[in-house]
Amino acid sequence: MGFPDNFLWGGATAANQCEGGYQEDGRGLANVDICPSGPDRSKIIAGHIEHLSCDKNHHYPSHHGIDLYHHYQEDIALFAKLGFKVYRMSIAWTRIYPKGDEDIPNEAGLQFYENIFRLCQHYGIEPLVTITHFDCPIHLIKTIGGWRSREMIDHYLKLCKTLFDRYQGLVHNWLTFNEINMILHAPFMGAGLVFQKEENETAIKYQAAHHELVASALATKLAHEIDPNNQIGCMFAAGSAYPYSCKPEDVFKAMQVDRENYFFIDVQSRGAYPAYAIKQLQRKNCMPKMEPEDTQILKEYTVDFVAFSYYNSRCIAASLDKNNMAEGNLFASAKNPYLTFSKWGWPIDPLGFRITLNQVYDRYQKPLFVVENGLGTIDETDEHGYVEDDERIQYLRNHIQAMKDAIEEDGVELLGYTCWGPIDLVSASSGEMKKRYGFIYVDVDDMGKGSYRRTKKKSFAWYQKVIASNGEDL
Ligand code: BG6
Repeated sequence: MGFPDNFLWGGATAANQCEGGYQEDGRGLANVDICPSGPDRSKIIAGHIEHLSCDKNHHYPSHHGIDLYHHYQEDIALFAKLGFKVYRMSIAWTRIYPKGDEDIPNEAGLQFYENIFRLCQHYGIEPLVTITHFDCPIHLIKTIGGWRSREMIDHYLKLCKTLFDRYQGLVHNWLTFNEINMILHAPFMGAGLVFQKEENETAIKYQAAHHELVASALATKLAHEIDPNNQIGCMFAAGSAYPYSCKPEDVFKAMQVDRENYFFIDVQSRGAYPAYAIKQLQRKNCMPKMEPEDTQILKEYTVDFVAFSYYNSRCIAASLDKNNMAEGNLFASAKNPYLTFSKWGWPIDPLGFRITLNQVYDRYQKPLFVVENGLGTIDETDEHGYVEDDERIQYLRNHIQAMKDAIEEDGVELLGYTCWGPIDLVSASSGEMKKRYGFIYVDVDDMGKGSYRRTKKKSFAWYQKVIASNGEDL
């Protein structure tokens, strides 16, 4: 009983939040490189952006990250010490194709990731690779408007083919898009969308989403053709929507919010636009333009497993009370009076994790993979760089217990668990460094200043023990 023997324990990172080296070895500029920290970040990630370049008045955290580009050997050695079976990471598209539309890939970029995968292989760590994690070449945004254009499908598939060919035998597990539902909330970050005044933003988002869904299905086809051992997953930002009360209007609204997120996975895992989505998109005049072959493509090339991030549940009321809101991954929702909250105001709800695991499994009946979960908080170091992060340990302990219950008591089929940011990295929503998730502390501040020295926090030994005992010793 408990976790299966081959359960994949590990951690997850994203290129733009940790690599730095944003102009090294031929890497091109990506959307994430022009998302600053500070108050303008949310406006820009929402697609309301004036110019597609950096300026001197802002700080751009992707430019330095935690400089994993130069520290990857040390970092992966630390992951191996933790006992990782899997390392989820993403490819920076512009390291491989700096502009996105070249015919020939950039060898230096390909070599960088090959070095990482060979190191993983050396330590017996299986990579789980996100092909795009909030990543789109600026050149493709300037020339064709990012994912609003169908041409993106070909550029993306060229990237996929390059990766599947080059890393055949080194990588077997792939995710096509990180948190694909993020496109509705952070469309510049999720899909390189920039809006002009008076545009129907919702229609553009769903058109771009359609292109991503077709691209994801064709990538699945390609991955299986190149290597039948490849396993392809979709990935969404999950977290069940609770009705704020048992008032039917609240219950109905909560169902609608869940469907807004499930829509993407319904297509990627079940292979068709669900009836509720067609009705709603038609009503709003937002039904995407499709090519005749799309229905068949979506139907035939569904994913092998369903991956998701879970940070918090959401609480949904039919009428919004702006004075009673909680923050959270993806979007703010009504403040649940039964929960506590992180320093960034995100609800803490381990049972909600078990509920989410069950609901997602009930809906798709495919193996699941939890590829993000964790507590972003402020860490205080002593003079040796040590952090007593008991709050983080408690958060993870409760969530891993909930996951264990979902497997043991409820029969959910779960392939693995990669908690978010095993090493501190830049926050996606705020661009801060001080919002830390790691077992490994990195000495760098919000402005990119520091020694970049890596030190183990208290949680390092704790997670090491969790993995060594296959989740028995929490
Ligand atoms: C997910 C993203 O939304 O949440 C990650 O896939 C992100 O990229 C994570 O870092 C945590 O959010 P944040 O804003 O605390 O970094």
